[in-house]
Amino acid sequence: MIEPFAAVEIIAAKRDRNELTDPQIDWIIDAYTRGVVADEQMSALLMAILLNGMNSREISRWTNAMINSGERMDWSKLDRKTADKHSTGGVGDKITLPLAPLVAACGGAVPQLSGRGLGHTGGTLDKLESIPGWRASLTNDEMLKVLQDTGAVICAAGAGLAPADKKLYALRDVTATVEAIPLIASSIMSKKIAEGTSALVLDVKTGSGAFMSDPAKASELARTMVQLGRDAGVKTRALVTAMDVPLGLTAGNALEVRESVEVLAGGGPSDVVELTILLAREMIDAAGIVGKDPADALKDGSAMDHWRRMISAQGGDPDAALPVAREQHVVKAANSGIITTMDAMKVGVSAWRLGAGRSKQGEKVQAGAGIELHAKPGDYITAGSPLMTLHTDEAPRFERALEILEGAVTIVEGGTVNRLPLVLERIEG
Ligand code: URA
Repeated sequence: MIEPFAAVEIIAAKRDRNELTDPQIDWIIDAYTRGVVADEQMSALLMAILLNGMNSREISRWTNAMINSGERMDWSKLDRKTADKHSTGGVGDKITLPLAPLVAACGGAVPQLSGRGLGHTGGTLDKLESIPGWRASLTNDEMLKVLQDTGAVICAAGAGLAPADKKLYALRDVTATVEAIPLIASSIMSKKIAEGTSALVLDVKTGSGAFMSDPAKASELARTMVQLGRDAGVKTRALVTAMDVPLGLTAGNALEVRESVEVLAGGGPSDVVELTILLAREMIDAAGIVGKDPADALKDGSAMDHWRRMISAQGGDPDAALPVAREQHVVKAANSGIITTMDAMKVGVSAWRLGAGRSKQGEKVQAGAGIELHAKPGDYITAGSPLMTLHTDEAPRFERALEILEGAVTIVEGGTVNRLPLVLERIEG
C-alpha cells in the first residue's frame, strides 16, 4: 500500500505551528494504529501538539479518528435512554458506585466502561473487584443483557474500543505528553463517544488531588470535552468539582465500596451524597427523563435494589463480607483546633503506598488497604483523638505511608477553613 503522507511532514507542520488538515489527522492516527508510523515519530508529534496546541477543528477530527480506529457500541435495542458519567479522577472518588444504580432506579440505562487506578487515584474496577465474585470483563452481549436486566453495567472496556487511544496513552505516559488538553480531551471523549451513550455528564476534578489542579485549566478541559460531545451528537455537560480534600471519609477499594453502600442505604458522608444526587440529576435531565428525583430513589431503597441486582448480575455477592486489611494504624491529632486543610494528593499517595493502588500496569492491589478519615476540614478535633486510620496487609508499608502524610493536615485553634466549593462551575453545551 502506498501511504498518502509522510509522518515527518506532519510532525514538521505541527512543529512550525501550522494547522493539520483533516486527511493528515485521519491518516496519522490510522497509520500509527496499523504500526506504519513509529513510536518515535508519534512521540515527536505529541510533543509538538503539547507545545503548540490544536484548534477545535483539529481536536474534533483527532477524536473522530481515534473513535474510528475501533468499534462503536450500539444500545438502540434498549427500551431505556442511556446516560453515562466520566470523572477525571481523584482521591476517594467512589461516586460511580452509588450513581450508576441510582440513575438506573430513575429509569435510565448506564453503560459505564471504567478503568483501573494508576498512581494516587483509585479505579472503579479495582473498587468493585473487592466484592467477592464480581467480575469486570464482559462480552458486548453480556453487557447488553446486564443493562437490559438491571439498568446499569460497570465493566472493563474491551480491546476493540478506541485502540488508537490505548497505544497513544501508553506512549504519552512515557514521553511526558499526558498533560496536553487536546490530547486529554480527545482521549477521554473518544472512549465515551465510542461507548455509545446518548447523554454524558463529565465530572472534571480540580484541586491538589486532581490531575488538573488549576481550576482555570480544569474549566478549559471541561469546555473542550463538552464541545467534542456536542460535535458527536452526544448531549454533554460538565461540572468542575472540588478535589482539594478527599471525597467522603474513605480512600481505598473495599473501604470505598462500604461507604458507597452506606450512601445507597440512605446514609454516608454529606459531600458524597450531595455530589451523587447532583450528577444523577444532570444525567437524567440530559437523557430527557422527567418526573424522577434521585433523592427519592436513595430514600425509598430502589437505588439499593438496583445496586444489588447489578452486582449479582456480574457474579458478585452483595451480601458477602468485604475484605478487611490485616493491619491498622491510628493517626491521632497532634493538637486541638479546627481542621483547616487536608491535602487530597497526600492522602491519595499515602493510600497508594498502603497498597490500595498500583505503581505499574498489571500489579495486584490490596482490597482492604487504604485510609479511613475520622474528621474533615471544618471539624473541631481535640489533641490525641483519632484523625485517620491507615489499613494495609503489610505493616512495613506504614512508614512510607506516614511519611507522605507529614503536613497533610493543618489544625488551628480558632482557624478558618479555606477550601474549594463542591461545585466550581457548570458547563452545558
Ligand atoms: N484519562 C484518559 O482516559 N485519558 C487521558 O488522557 C487522561 C485521563
